[in-house]
Amino acid sequence: MTHMSLLSFLGVLVCALFSLSCCEEPQIPEEKLVVVTVATKETDGFRRFLGSAKHFNYTVKVLGRGQKWSGGDMSAPGGGQKIRLLKAALEEMKNEDIIILFIDSYDVVFSSGPRELLKKFQQARHKVVFSSESLIWPDRHLEDKYPQVTMGNRFLGSGGFIGYLPNIKEMVAGWTGEDSDSDQLFFTRIYIDPAKRKSTNITLDSKCRLFQNLNGALDEVVLKFEDGRVRARNVLYDTLPVVIHGNGPTKMQINYLGNYIPNTWTFEIGCTACHENLQPLTSLTESEYPLVMIGIFIQQPTPFVAVFFERLLKLQYPKKRVKLFIHSQEAHHERHISSFLQDHGNLYQDVQSIGPEKEMDGAASRNLGFDMCRKDDSCDYFFSLDVEVVLKNENTLKILIEQNLPVVAPMITRAGRLWSNFWGALSADGYYARSEDYVDIVQGRRVGVWNVPYVSNVYLMKGSLLRSELTDYELFNSQTLDPDMAYCHNIRNKGIFMYVTNMHTFGRILSTENYQTSHLHNDLWQIFENPVDWEERYIHENYTRIMKDKLIETPCPDVYWFPIFSEVACNHIVEEMEHYGQWSGGGHKDTRIQGGYENVPTVDIHMHQINYEKEWHKLLLEYIAPITEKMYPGYYTRCATPLNFVVRYKPDEQPLLEPHHDASTFTINIALNSKDIDYQGGGCRFLRYDCSIQAPRKGWALMHPGRLTHYHEGLPTTAGVRYIAVSFVDP
Ligand SMILES: *[C@@H]1O[C@H](CO)[C@@H](O)[C@H](O)[C@H]1NC(C)=O
Ligand SMILES: *[C@@H]1O[C@H](CO)[C@@H](O)[C@H](O)[C@H]1NC(C)=O
Ligand SMILES: *[C@@H]1O[C@H](CO)[C@@H](O)[C@H](O)[C@H]1NC(C)=O
Repeated sequence: MTHMSLLSFLGVLVCALFSLSCCEEPQIPEEKLVVVTVATKETDGFRRFLGSAKHFNYTVKVLGRGQKWSGGDMSAPGGGQKIRLLKAALEEMKNEDIIILFIDSYDVVFSSGPRELLKKFQQARHKVVFSSESLIWPDRHLEDKYPQVTMGNRFLGSGGFIGYLPNIKEMVAGWTGEDSDSDQLFFTRIYIDPAKRKSTNITLDSKCRLFQNLNGALDEVVLKFEDGRVRARNVLYDTLPVVIHGNGPTKMQINYLGNYIPNTWTFEIGCTACHENLQPLTSLTESEYPLVMIGIFIQQPTPFVAVFFERLLKLQYPKKRVKLFIHSQEAHHERHISSFLQDHGNLYQDVQSIGPEKEMDGAASRNLGFDMCRKDDSCDYFFSLDVEVVLKNENTLKILIEQNLPVVAPMITRAGRLWSNFWGALSADGYYARSEDYVDIVQGRRVGVWNVPYVSNVYLMKGSLLRSELTDYELFNSQTLDPDMAYCHNIRNKGIFMYVTNMHTFGRILSTENYQTSHLHNDLWQIFENPVDWEERYIHENYTRIMKDKLIETPCPDVYWFPIFSEVACNHIVEEMEHYGQWSGGGHKDTRIQGGYENVPTVDIHMHQINYEKEWHKLLLEYIAPITEKMYPGYYTRCATPLNFVVRYKPDEQPLLEPHHDASTFTINIALNSKDIDYQGGGCRFLRYDCSIQAPRKGWALMHPGRLTHYHEGLPTTAGVRYIAVSFVDP
């Protein structure tokens, strides 16, 4: 015998002796345990319960399936129906040595398996063990009658108990109550009666070793992550309860815990539930795709609505399987809607549009949209989409459908902020509260599909829900709550789970604050409020790589040429200027500038005339200054007092500009339209170098020194109209 095996032999011996001396009873075999629960409906909570039971191989017997529930609701005592059904079921069971675990299921998850449960039951040394609570319910007048406990909860909770079949039979034998009578009161009366307590041999699990009721105990319970699994830990009693019960008003907390327990999400594997019970679309032909009604809601003036519709068009989903429902409360956006519908409306299976003239409010239109899906048997899903949502992921709709969940929202955030379209928790009065995992989810450190109490702005909902649990239900109506909060409140109350997924990057949400609608192209002004969207829309797609890929050209000495604006930016600036229309006469007298005299007059409009001075300055700082600093090393500009304007050249107005120096340290000259398409001729010549740029490129900027070396002229525009945007930057 080697050293090692001698040691392990001794170890076995010690263990055997120890287990003999400490536990006379052998461990109850797991097959003896039957879990009994009452579930008249297959709620989402019930499915979650079954999932956790299956995970640990519990044997579950479900009573009351498909029957009408007459045991009352949470607002009043009730639950007698559960005892009636239990009593009847136990009468059928003959095997006297089985152990019954009777628990609720809509708001319960298992955090460990039958072995641990039975061991702890045996250690309780009673024939029946009830879950305990710190709060007394439903009759607080009985308080004095409860036995004292040295440590732990003193009151009985009927949502979970475990015991030998004969003892439980004995306990429920006396039940003659109504379905709507209180089950908790019935069991409490047995427990507080010393004789009955003794004969049935009942005790309470006061320190939550088996059962954790969450009501009154929220501060005691934390998640405990251990290799590959998650459970709840009661920090007050230092116990690891096996059954976790979101009794009373703690449904949201059990939903939170259920996002982790028993292994829904773990640090080791991440999300396990996310890959279960999916509805794949890949095997379907386009005509077999589920029918989706997309509800689009425009409730306030919103930037980039034209882009919203461009993106809607690019959403990857067969359009013949989509019905559009558009509601707008904003006259300002009518032109965006009508131009989209005119060009693309007929691609969709159906289009309904309600404009501001109907004077319908947000709640009413959302109710109407849902109602249209509800009454349309072909409507498989309702996809609710607010116009301020920027869905960058073209597969969003497919991804959400494949998750196969009752209500699911793609997580979107405000660029660079912690703001998102879901709440991880609610405050006592039903408003936003931050869950412990909120920041990790928003910042993508925890990735998965999360059961949450509130989603908004964009979510997918199963149409079948509208035709079952949610019939005749004005989900968005409330005396006190906003429509979105009313919706979530109602969904929660129906026991329907809402999820948010951050399994993919989906997009972001726009800020609609400070959006002015007084201009033709109001989005141009969004550089401060929505800088990311502004850049996507207006900055040239290759701008970000001009340094890396050496895209900056040098057509003449110290003259740099690079892409800055998108096509759309050029068009919008020109259209905005023409819309404003007050071009200067091109004379020397100019009241718009200091001194009132212009040496080298052009036909132009200054940026400040259209209130675009601040925005243009921001453009210079963000997009021009970094290039200036690279190309003219050692020169740093704050773009302090630039003169910014758009110039118009045309043959019969002002076709050219005589040779001159600019009143600047350096000058930016951006071509806003295209040679040979919009005009003939044009360009710029630097006399000192006898060097010309004959073919300006739309959206490209020329950058050159101002008042010393780069004496230059504007070459004649011979046909059409040429526009340039100019900045004299100084110093
Ligand atoms: C449940 O049973 C299956 C097969 O019977 C087994 O593979 C699995 O390990 C069991 N799980 C647990 C948690 O005991
Ligand atoms: C309850 O049953 C246990 C054995 O399981 C026994 O030791 C104990 O004395 C009983 N308690 C009462 C109050 O009858
Ligand atoms: C950006 O660069 C790519 C590759 O160099 C080119 O194909 C594309 O046309 C450029 N985009 C624009 C708007 O000029």
